[in-house]
Amino acid sequence: MIRAGTIQVNGQGHLEIGGCDTVELAERYGTPLYIMDEELLRKNCRRFRNALQQSYPHGQVIFAGKAFLVLAMARLVGEEGLGLDVVSGGELYTALKAGFPAERLFFHGNNKTGTELAEALDAGTGRIIVDSMMELEDLIALARQKGKKAAVLLRLRPGVEAHTHEYIQTGQEDSKFGFALEEEALTAVRLALSVPDHIELAGFHCHIGSQIFQIEPYRPAAQTMLRFMALVRKQTGFVVSQLNMGGGLGIRYRSSDNPPSIEAFVANLATAVTQAAEEEEFPLPELLLEPGRSICGEAGITLYRIGVIKEVPGIRRYVSVDGGMMDNIRPALYGAGYEAILANKADREGVGTVTIAGKACESGDILIDESFLPPVEKGDLLAVFSTGAYCYAMASNYNRNPRPGVLFVRDGKARVAVRRESYEHMVALDM
Ligand code: LLP
Repeated sequence: MIRAGTIQVNGQGHLEIGGCDTVELAERYGTPLYIMDEELLRKNCRRFRNALQQSYPHGQVIFAGKAFLVLAMARLVGEEGLGLDVVSGGELYTALKAGFPAERLFFHGNNKTGTELAEALDAGTGRIIVDSMMELEDLIALARQKGKKAAVLLRLRPGVEAHTHEYIQTGQEDSKFGFALEEEALTAVRLALSVPDHIELAGFHCHIGSQIFQIEPYRPAAQTMLRFMALVRKQTGFVVSQLNMGGGLGIRYRSSDNPPSIEAFVANLATAVTQAAEEEEFPLPELLLEPGRSICGEAGITLYRIGVIKEVPGIRRYVSVDGGMMDNIRPALYGAGYEAILANKADREGVGTVTIAGKACESGDILIDESFLPPVEKGDLLAVFSTGAYCYAMASNYNRNPRPGVLFVRDGKARVAVRRESYEHMVALDM
């Protein structure tokens, strides 16, 4: 089992998280249920901040909200002193509603609508990460119209491929994100610098991918970014002050996964940036990091109740749970692997391999292809580990299944961060 944070087996042989017995939580709050270990969430925020403080003179850690953003999470991130990366009007709204300081918000997106750009400007968003020439032109026009000045980072494509699933690679040449180097990006820089009343060019951004275990791809990315910053200085005389290297640090989904620690990742990245700056004789920029998954992924588990068990003789045993691809699309979408245990039999040895199936009307709704478990019976509780990132955030109502609620647990207490949806919620907007 994945022993992240406060996860352990208690005296009754039940899985425990945040000091709470998961069997009791399932009874009280129902299943499926997302449970977040608040202590681990906070610890990961602090580890990132401390690691950056120790390995680099000035920087900021910005939580990538797309991994998991609800009011409770926005508040937690704010309390821990991180910035917040939002990527839509909806995420921006959530952050502001939670009272998150607008000046610590970073607004991303490859196709922000005019409405979203206006919302970001009106809210006083700290940075807008501009993704294309069209967007830069639109933003200038909008800022002029509103008599405002937008502080921006330009997102660049450093042409680096990180080793991860193709759908979650983003830094490579053929990508919908960011400006191409160098001509297109230089043109954007010149345009941004030509309207000092409406655009403050604070720096550059890149993001090379997600669920990355190697530090290597960040080195050429940092070199490319610094080389470009030096080129901008040479061509325009302008010295930018911020470099945002995006997110991407991978987490442990299965016991065999071995990602670098937060400390090792941050220290190596800081070294890569420092060396690149030295090579280019460029003053050290402020270094911004945007971790999502590595802050919240391992802090979450999903609890399901086991229902139908079906033997396909000589082939496999299907064990079905009361959720599936609607609360965790990652196996179906990326072939992502997960590990699970029986939460009510957490102290028992595994005896055989079963296939964990969801309840959606899709043959592809398989959560775990091979799960080694103790004898499974209807009514048992299954806990799937490392579901804190990109699960609730990507959940749907497919087959009109209500989305599960989210609990935050800490020191033996559980609080509802998000209520479970009801059937009524699902028809609330239908006419
Ligand atoms: N910054 C930017 C600009 C991003 O696009 C992302 C993730 C992050 C930061 C955070 O990356 P992280 O630290 O979480 O790797 N749905 C996929 C992941 C998509 C990631 C998209 N961008 C999944 O479930 O694996």
